[in-house]
Formats: sequence, structure tokens, C-alpha cells
Amino acid sequence: MSLLTGQRAVVTGGASGIGRATCRKLAAEGASVAVLDVDKDGAEEVAAVVGGMALAVDVTDADALAEAVEEAVTRLGGLGILVNNAGGSTMQGLADWDPAEWDRIVRLNLTGVWNGMRAGVRHLQASGGGAVVNTASISGTRPSAGETPYAAAKAGVVALTASAALEYAPTIRVNAVAPGMIRSKLTSVLLDLDGMVDHYESITPMARIGAPEDIADVVCFLCSDQARFITGQTLVVDGGMTLHGAGVDGLFDRFFRSGSPPA
Ligand SMILES: NC(=O)c1ccc[n+]([C@@H]2O[C@H](COP(=O)([O-])OP(=O)(O)OC[C@H]3O[C@@H](n4cnc5c(N)ncnc54)[C@H](O)[C@@H]3O)[C@@H](O)[C@H]2O)c1
Repeated sequence: MSLLTGQRAVVTGGASGIGRATCRKLAAEGASVAVLDVDKDGAEEVAAVVGGMALAVDVTDADALAEAVEEAVTRLGGLGILVNNAGGSTMQGLADWDPAEWDRIVRLNLTGVWNGMRAGVRHLQASGGGAVVNTASISGTRPSAGETPYAAAKAGVVALTASAALEYAPTIRVNAVAPGMIRSKLTSVLLDLDGMVDHYESITPMARIGAPEDIADVVCFLCSDQARFITGQTLVVDGGMTLHGAGVDGLFDRFFRSGSPPA
């Protein structure tokens, strides 16, 4: 028997990158999958690959998302897994953000996750319980300059996840993943710049850029019974990248591992 045999799953942002890999992994582990995305063609392609269904919807539209989730649950015959993954951002200096763009990014990355939970939790309860996994980011757990609305929204996802876990335990487990640098449509613009792959490989202890499947595997674990005693957590999946920056960071490599300790 596979990890998720007989489970019924809804994934937002399922047409590309981490969401697409998650749909594939969920299906490979035995779940029936509804692929929700604002990109209708992309969602249909993924649904065809995983033998699931596609629904075109914008996660920032609370009522439209509730309707799409309702339709998915009716066609799936219930709901056990909800993955709120749709998200994305651009970069800008704090005072230079256009207010409308700031609002769009917060609505997409934070309110979109809440919209998904608002739409899905009653179906999870009606199906006897289940698991929610929200996609946060290392930008929420360890923010960088230039991404204020995205970092704030993703930190909000971490808090929303913990708060919801308390509210819905023991029926529904609610966790999040915080991906590091993963190659996808979102990051390829950055990774295709000269020297960027070398840069990220050099600051990542696991010495490579992540693949969407690195996150999808963890999402499936969190959805499965193997994670039955885990709730309210945000699991950082970044190859160790954000471990750097401690007080004596680099000292051991520079002096001791090189064989020339300071006198
Ligand atoms: N790639 C990374 O390095 C990385 C790192 C940390 C977090 N994340 C997060 O992972 C998630 C997936 O990102 P990805 O890297 O796979 O990017 P991606 O661009 O490949 O996929 C994002 C998907 O979300 C969909 N989407 C965007 N806005 C939407 C909306 N309003 N309604 C419905 N669907 C919408 C897109 O059409 C796309 O299919 C996002 O939440 C992102 O913030 C990515």
C-alpha cells in the first residue's frame, strides 16, 4: 500500500513548480488530486498527467475559491488533504512598493492561504479530519532585504499555521513547509543571471539548488500518517542554507578544517 492510498487532495498553485511536483507525488502515493490554479491550461496539463481534475481559480478571490473547493470535494467524494501552495513575489525597496502591488502580494501569499483554509476546513471536518500543508518560505523565517510584503506575508503563514493547528486539533493537523532556493518558474529569472547558481550552491551546505520534488516529498510526508503527531510546525527545507550567519560562522572551515589553527 502507498503512503496516501484512497486520500482525496486539493492543491492550489498546482500548475507549476512545487505545486505541480506535489500533485504528482500525491498521485504517485495513491491520492486523487484536484489541481487548482489561476493558469487554466497549466492546471489541465497537470491534471491530465496525474489523472485528476483541473479547476481554474484565483486564490485571492475568497468566494470563487470556496466554490472551486466545493466543486472539487463533490467530485472527489470528500477531502482529506489541503495544500495551500499558490504564491509568488517580485522585489522592491520598502518605500518604493506601489501600494496596489504590496496589497496584491500580501493577498496572494497570506490571504490566499487563509481563503484556502476557510474554504477547506469544513470539508476536512465533514470527511472525518485530515491534513493541511501551507507553503511558507525561508523569506518568512529568515527574511532578506527587498521582499518586505512577501516576507511579512510568509511570516504570517507561519503564525496562521500554528494558530489554526491549535484551533482544529485533534481533527485536522495543520503544518507548513518553508522552502529555500528551489528551481521553478518563480526563481528561474534569478537563477539564470550570471553566477547565481554558483553563488547559491556555495552558500548551501547541501551544495545544490533545490528541486520542486525536494519540497513535494516533505509535503506528502506531512500529509501522511507518518506525521500523525506533528501539527502547527513549519519545516524548513532549504539544504541548510539558512543555518549560516551564526557568531563564529566560517571559523572552523577557515582555521581548523584547513589544518592551520590560530596559535
Ligand atoms: N521556488 C522557490 O525557491 C520558493 C521558495 C520559497 C517559497 N516558495 C513558495 O512556493 C510556492 C510555489 O512557488 P513555485 O516556486 O512553485 O512557483 P511557480 O511560479 O512555479 O508556481 C506558482 C503557481 O501558483 C500559481 N498562482 C499564482 N498566483 C495565483 C493565484 N492568484 N491563484 C491561483 N494560483 C496562482 C501560478 O499560476 C503557478 O502555477 C509559492 O507559495 C512560493 O512563494 C517558492
